[in-house]
Amino acid sequence: MATLNLLEVVSLFAVAMVVVTLGWRILNSPLNAADDAHWSVRLTGAWIWWQRITDKDAQAVHDAHVRLGPAVRLGPKELSINDVDGGLKPIYDGRLPKTDFYDVANSYGESPMVAIRDEKQHQMRKRLVAKPYAKSTVMHDQAWNTEQGRLADELVKALDEQLKTSSDIELYDIFYAWAVTTTSAYIFGANAGLNLLGNISEARRVREEYFTQRTPQFISAVLPIPTIFRQWTGTQAEIQWIWQSQERAEKAVQSAPKQTSEDRWTSVYSFMKKSMSPETSKQDPPAVQLSAKETAIVSSELQDHMIAGIDTSIAALGACAWLLSIDSNRQWQHRLREEVKQVPTTASFAQLEQLPVLNAIVKETLRLFPPVAGGQPRVTDKPVLLGPEGHRIHVPAGIKVHSQALTLHRSEVFERPDLFCPERWLDSSPDRVNEMERWFWAFGSGTRRCVGEHLGLSNIRFAIATIWRTFETRETQKTKFTVGKGTISMSLPNGGDFIRLRVERVGS
Ligand code: HEM
Ligand SMILES: *[C@@H]1O[C@H](CO)[C@@H](O)[C@H](O)[C@H]1NC(C)=O
Repeated sequence: MATLNLLEVVSLFAVAMVVVTLGWRILNSPLNAADDAHWSVRLTGAWIWWQRITDKDAQAVHDAHVRLGPAVRLGPKELSINDVDGGLKPIYDGRLPKTDFYDVANSYGESPMVAIRDEKQHQMRKRLVAKPYAKSTVMHDQAWNTEQGRLADELVKALDEQLKTSSDIELYDIFYAWAVTTTSAYIFGANAGLNLLGNISEARRVREEYFTQRTPQFISAVLPIPTIFRQWTGTQAEIQWIWQSQERAEKAVQSAPKQTSEDRWTSVYSFMKKSMSPETSKQDPPAVQLSAKETAIVSSELQDHMIAGIDTSIAALGACAWLLSIDSNRQWQHRLREEVKQVPTTASFAQLEQLPVLNAIVKETLRLFPPVAGGQPRVTDKPVLLGPEGHRIHVPAGIKVHSQALTLHRSEVFERPDLFCPERWLDSSPDRVNEMERWFWAFGSGTRRCVGEHLGLSNIRFAIATIWRTFETRETQKTKFTVGKGTISMSLPNGGDFIRLRVERVGS
């Protein structure tokens, strides 16, 4: 037998050391205290990445929680915790920083607020946009309320127009048209947004184009590749028609009278532009010229708001339409109609907020099918204790952690959690409602909670009140609906009919 030379001895020794060290780490990882979602997770992240790439992670992680409990391990350095006190509080109220997953939202070479990781920088950016999204602004802006009422009339006309050719309607196109029209009007101002309600075939064309541009970007976001590679492959989408809206908004700001006229709301665009300007020019916003970099920041920010607002609204509206149209749930259409009839068609956001049945239906839809259903990743920047009482895990720094609405919303706090049951929000005791609210996580929590919540809720409530005041819907043989897939968990069109329902006019 040949003797080993020195080099071979050293190599063998090095390999043995690596194996022993890795083995030691694997055996002694503090994350071993969590339950493994799959037998391989202590060794490799392959299992969870595969779930992500195939767009099944939200459901797969949920299934693991159902089997194993609130603290589940997804990879060598990754945990999913679905508990209020042992998860949401330390992770999201504890302001653990975001991961680079959110770089998916970068465009025009700039990060929008949602992707900013540094806390100070995030705070600064938030100041440029928070006010127009405040509840009091969305709720009490008279001009915006009037515009929303006008758009609601257009929504009814769009449905009537479709009914002329068939009683089976692809509602997804109608919802897309509504979400684009209302969100872009609010963000860019009267006449600057994109009104698709008057032409639903155009809405379908824009929707298909939009998903073609957006989908590769979202897929690349879940691939386990470094951000720099993503920038290099150029997957950052810059969506033309959103940019054109911004150009129209700029023209409108330029030509606007110095005093804001009474009949227009302050668009997010003009507010942001004004807030970015130096103090001296704040009095005269039209005169301000933004630099190329500032323009890129505005474009990146507002493109993200458009995508955030549209995708979530259509997911919620699609889920709601589908739920209400199932035979066993259709009684809720009647209760809703009776309630909505009590307020005028020109009802404001404030009036809609007073309608218990409407709000219970919206809340229950967002609970069962949260538009952002999957994990919202953060990374521990210091050691933290995570997990429910009696099962705390000492999590060191550098571990990816997340919670997900899909699982929180199916906690035992919600009786028979898989059932669509709006009455749980109407008839439960105040204590029970409080407890359910603590677990309700459709808009996230902490400083990174959704900034567009009130605009989103207002758009959804208006559409639902408007449609079921006037129309009745039911499922047909062809109804297809796929919900809550993946990290991004968007309901993407699955070829052909997406949510085609039988629609009938019942009101005047
Ligand atoms: C039903 C409608 C909506 C739902 C369910 C929803 C959900 C969410 C969730 C869960 C987050 C937190 C993400 C995280 O921490 O990982 C978020 C953040 C955000 N949302 Fe929404 N959203 C909705 C509507 C909107 C609308 C209408 C807009 C704007 C027009 C918007 C803009 C944003 C922005 C900018 C952030 C980032 C906030 C930050 O990082 O400070 N969202 N949203
Ligand atoms: C609607 O949009 C389509 C393009 O998608 C266009 O060909 C058609 O002329 C438009 N119809 C109306 C009435 O504007």
